[in-house]
Amino acid sequence: MGKPIRICFVFGTRPEAIKVAPVIANLGACKAFEVITVLTGQHREMLDQVVDVFGIPVTHDLDVMQPEQTLSGLTSVLCERVGEVLRRESPDCVVVQGDTTSCFVGGLAAFYHGIPVAHLEAGLRTNDVRQPFPEEMNRRLVGRLATVHFAPTESARENLLRENVADNRIWVVGNSGIDALRIVSERPNLEPEGPLADALSQCAGTVIAVTSHRRENMPFMSGIAEAIRELAEIEKVDVVFPVHLSPKVRGAVLPILERVARCHLLEPLAYDQFVAMMKRSDILLTDSGGVQEEAPYLGKPVLVIRRKTERPEAVDAGTVRLVGENRTSIVSATRELIHDAELRARMSRAINPYGDGHTSERVARILLEYLDGEGGAGA
Ligand code: UD1
Ligand code: UDP
Repeated sequence: MGKPIRICFVFGTRPEAIKVAPVIANLGACKAFEVITVLTGQHREMLDQVVDVFGIPVTHDLDVMQPEQTLSGLTSVLCERVGEVLRRESPDCVVVQGDTTSCFVGGLAAFYHGIPVAHLEAGLRTNDVRQPFPEEMNRRLVGRLATVHFAPTESARENLLRENVADNRIWVVGNSGIDALRIVSERPNLEPEGPLADALSQCAGTVIAVTSHRRENMPFMSGIAEAIRELAEIEKVDVVFPVHLSPKVRGAVLPILERVARCHLLEPLAYDQFVAMMKRSDILLTDSGGVQEEAPYLGKPVLVIRRKTERPEAVDAGTVRLVGENRTSIVSATRELIHDAELRARMSRAINPYGDGHTSERVARILLEYLDGEGGAGA
């Protein structure tokens, strides 16, 4: 057997770590590959939580996070630091995931070093560069930098084709986030623990799980918090809200919600605990991308605090509904769902438009074929 193919994963935020974890595990178990990981540290605590839950091996940790880091500051520091590691490691391929700054810079630095880029979760588009910001631009740019595009769905593939990505460079493989969810939700000992268990033990009726962090929603964050307060004041309703560590989110949300009796504010939950929370919830109210993919798999209705989504499949299937970021529309859509059991049942159909939880195996097989063949020859 020849030398193993050296694959370098560059990632740095919570959602990327969750979605690369099963792929790293799969490639790591295959003798044909040598896995190198570069954790940018764009996130710190929230990244470490995922590394712990999945036991992700860490080769390089750049540890760059700053409180209230700016997009340009983060981008320039990372470009330098990731580039330096890639120069030293000289891998055969760099894998990036999604649409964060770490993903974009990982792709750019690889391109500068002449290393082929494989993009997981390729082809998601809202077709509006301000929503989500800056992620829609990041993923478009990575779409230009990558030579291997792992699209989660057929519609993501079509988006790439519309941008003139060659058909034979696109593979529809599902989303590896569903692999992570399958693995964790099947753990026999998965139970709410600690602060989550305490919060859930106080919940009597309908449980609404909330997350919110999008940059373009920051101007509306106080209004979103006011909406959540209104919801937590409805009889027999409890809100459970693990609050993102972004100081902008906390600055807006905590003063409004800290003293609301049936709004249970928590620190960001470790991924397994978050899955336990989703399973126990009746409604998810979120602006997260990943949660829009996970909830349909778990059969949970999702109200999305955004005007546009790059994940239309779950909207088409009826489990996800866009409610915008306006306080009144959030409250009225959630009230409707609380009180209309039939609607809730219709939106709670378990579907899996984002894959069967075996994306990682496909990615490993395709990377092996591609890099052993034309890609390995520097295509
Ligand atoms: C980033 C991604 C976004 C992704 C989100 C997931 C970009 C441009 N945005 O947004 O696509 O949906 O992560 O959560 O890449 N912080 C901590 N500890 C942590 C994490 C964050 O203290 O573990 C605080 C820091 O003050 C940091 C701030 O949160 O400066 C914002 O983090 P940043 O990664 O810049 O942006 P996000 O809004 O988290
Ligand atoms: N998540 C988590 N703990 C939390 C909130 C979310 O583990 O307290 C998980 C969630 O299950 C999903 C991912 O983090 O897999 C989503 O991350 P986030 O919303 O930060 O980013 P996005 O998906 O919007 O990019």
